[in-house]
Amino acid sequence: MSEAFTGMWQAIHEVGRSGETGGYHRFVWTDADHTLREWFAGEAARRGMDCQVDRNGNQWAWWGDPAAGDAVVLGSHLDSVPDGGAYDGPLGVLSAFAAVDGVRAAGVQPLRPIAVVNFIDEEGARFGVPCAGSRLLTGSLSPERARALRDRDGHSMEEVLRAAGRDPRLLGRDDVLDAVGTFVELHVEQGRDLVDRDHAVGLGSEIWPHGRYRFEFTGQANHAGTTAMDERRDPMLTYAMTVLAANKKARLGGARATFGRVQVEPNGTNAIPARVQAWLDARAPAADDVAELVRAVQQQASERARRDGTRLTVTAESETGSTHFDPRLTARLARQLSDAPVIATGAGHDAGVLSQAGIPTAMLFVRNPTGVSHSPDEFAEHSDCLAGVQALTRVLGELTTAASEQGRAP
Ligand code: HGY
Ligand code: MN
Ligand code: MN
Repeated sequence: MSEAFTGMWQAIHEVGRSGETGGYHRFVWTDADHTLREWFAGEAARRGMDCQVDRNGNQWAWWGDPAAGDAVVLGSHLDSVPDGGAYDGPLGVLSAFAAVDGVRAAGVQPLRPIAVVNFIDEEGARFGVPCAGSRLLTGSLSPERARALRDRDGHSMEEVLRAAGRDPRLLGRDDVLDAVGTFVELHVEQGRDLVDRDHAVGLGSEIWPHGRYRFEFTGQANHAGTTAMDERRDPMLTYAMTVLAANKKARLGGARATFGRVQVEPNGTNAIPARVQAWLDARAPAADDVAELVRAVQQQASERARRDGTRLTVTAESETGSTHFDPRLTARLARQLSDAPVIATGAGHDAGVLSQAGIPTAMLFVRNPTGVSHSPDEFAEHSDCLAGVQALTRVLGELTTAASEQGRAP
């Protein structure tokens, strides 16, 4: 098991990796993504699994006939945030293939079809909407909206799909979803809960509600040397005060607010900007708290814009409500995994999208010694990764040889 897992890890290690930072730049429908997709298809072929691509570009490697339904599906994603870590996403896909190897080596005769899935565009790093592949699959992102999304160079998803040789008209809910009986996503933990609890592997209970909001501040471009400070209409100033307001509001309310992306126009050192666009990532334990956080930040930004003589528009680009993974399934897996701790997470996942679509879903987390994620410093010990594979193998073995959560006979 260890050798196969290490081999897969090495095969993709350099794909989309920056020589400068060691971080990954694996964005949907780029060369790095194509290479990873080929790697996925190769791993499927090596195992005699039938690799199918759904309407949205998600890849499914099947062991057994999906038409039989009630499949046990494992997987995650292979794309990354800008300068992301090696584990967020790929660990779940590699572990899924390794778990298939594990149950085969144990001679398990599955009573349900099994699939490994690579969900496309989970991070939304290119087109802005996270979990675009699973949202399109389940119908929670409309194909019309998806086709019109634009990347930072102004290319629409529709154009990018055509350039990748895909038909953008295909986007939308896919019947493959009807074959999924249970979905389990293994993921590196993006916090230190498992470190504190001294466990290599845990289970997920829920995902905090979260959303992405584009704040567009507009003012008046002008000369940095000749424009008196009190004559400026500077959107950067309004933006800066908004960052401080968001930080304070989140800290006081036990929420999370992040402006991690900003675009300044025209972006010259000696010119007051005409326009600043910035993206607020807001998260909290309850959906009402997210709404209240965004409302308060928007209000303070609007008040500041009035003082600065600038204008503000706010657009919600994606919103995800509270997600609770299937409690019966999770309790069953926790028993199987010797009472693995069950923890909540502030990170979004395709598992959350499938769970919201009504599919019995669970998550496994692998300990991350520093808790750092979305960064080249993201890490998990090799031995913990193998403990994750072992746990996933047990889960897969048990799920494929027992009745499903939906009670359908295998
Ligand atoms: O942003 C998130 O929560 C996830 O890692 N995609
Ligand atoms: Mn991520
Ligand atoms: Mn992820």
